[in-house]
Amino acid sequence: MLRIGMLTSGGDCQALNATMRGVVRGIKTLIGDEFEIYGFIDGYKGLVYGNYRKMKYNDFAGIFNKGGTILGTSRMPFKEIDIPTADGVDKVKAMNENYKKLKLDALVVLGGNGSQKTANRLSEEGLNVIGLPKTIDNDIYGTDVTFGFQSAIDVATRCIDNIYTTAESHSRIFVIEIMGHKVGWIALHAGIAGGADAILLPEIPYDIKKVYKAIEKTQKEGKKAIIIAVAEGAIPKEVAKLPKKERKAVLANSTYPSVSYELADKIRAKFDSDVRVAVPGHTQRGGSPDAYDKVLSSRFGAKAAELIRDKDFGKLVVMKNNLVDAIPLAESAGKLKVIDPDDQLVKSAKDLGICFGD
Ligand code: F6P
Repeated sequence: MLRIGMLTSGGDCQALNATMRGVVRGIKTLIGDEFEIYGFIDGYKGLVYGNYRKMKYNDFAGIFNKGGTILGTSRMPFKEIDIPTADGVDKVKAMNENYKKLKLDALVVLGGNGSQKTANRLSEEGLNVIGLPKTIDNDIYGTDVTFGFQSAIDVATRCIDNIYTTAESHSRIFVIEIMGHKVGWIALHAGIAGGADAILLPEIPYDIKKVYKAIEKTQKEGKKAIIIAVAEGAIPKEVAKLPKKERKAVLANSTYPSVSYELADKIRAKFDSDVRVAVPGHTQRGGSPDAYDKVLSSRFGAKAAELIRDKDFGKLVVMKNNLVDAIPLAESAGKLKVIDPDDQLVKSAKDLGICFGD
């Protein structure tokens, strides 16, 4: 009997269940019926405390289209991995012991950057780990795309589309804040897809004067709706230039709830226009996966099953040039995939007249 541990860790996304379903279907097809899944509750916490559900193939039926995660999730920051829990449990030791106590053959970790760092650590400890790259942010190094990303783009784009019509009716300027943590992948894609006039990204610090200019130009052209898609991690040029410590302090001391409100205030002070903010927030992570993500999750799930069958552990499933592959967890762990300001997509957007504030 094959015994597989599985957990979902970090912020959720639309395609976690779809990916778990893919893994389980792949195992059944490639390896056979003799397997049990030990689903750890609420991410690594479940592995630390030995809190799990023993699951069968059928427990993963009917969840393809269901967002969130049937296992629950939580964040366990990697930087705190060697700090005991509040009740004094040594996390790495406990995870190791629980894995062995349950006689697991492998542990499948569906998680983002931090979670994959922990997966790599457990792999270094000798556990048979397979990572699956989950995050709406698309910032996992080594894969062209993560599951959740495309669905989040769809939600963010729909949000911009909806705002567009009302902005047009009222001749308003809208600053729309898009998730993405430290990177601007969702904002870049949704901004283009939503017809934004400006897209502001963490990777391309913006000069507010350039944003003003873009607004002026767009208003002069007679466009009634002005849309600024701002990534939640976007940063003005003058702040980006500061040494890391000072920059952190400036951002931490801001009195605004988030970047979009500060930006909207600046624009409001400069223009005789009605300026509004829209923050789609966690709607970008919620609901069902889109068709692209369902296909991607299925492909990733099948690859994870293949790795389990081949006992090829310590790997992260990735997509490279439209082909599913696997790379050592260590190759990706600790690195962030950011947008290259010279990326062709950025260039195309600029060629369409979209302002990046640089
Ligand atoms: O990593 C996914 C993400 O949604 C980021 O885009 C965002 O910055 C963060 O999680 C929000 O986290 P939380 O749900 O813990 O507030």
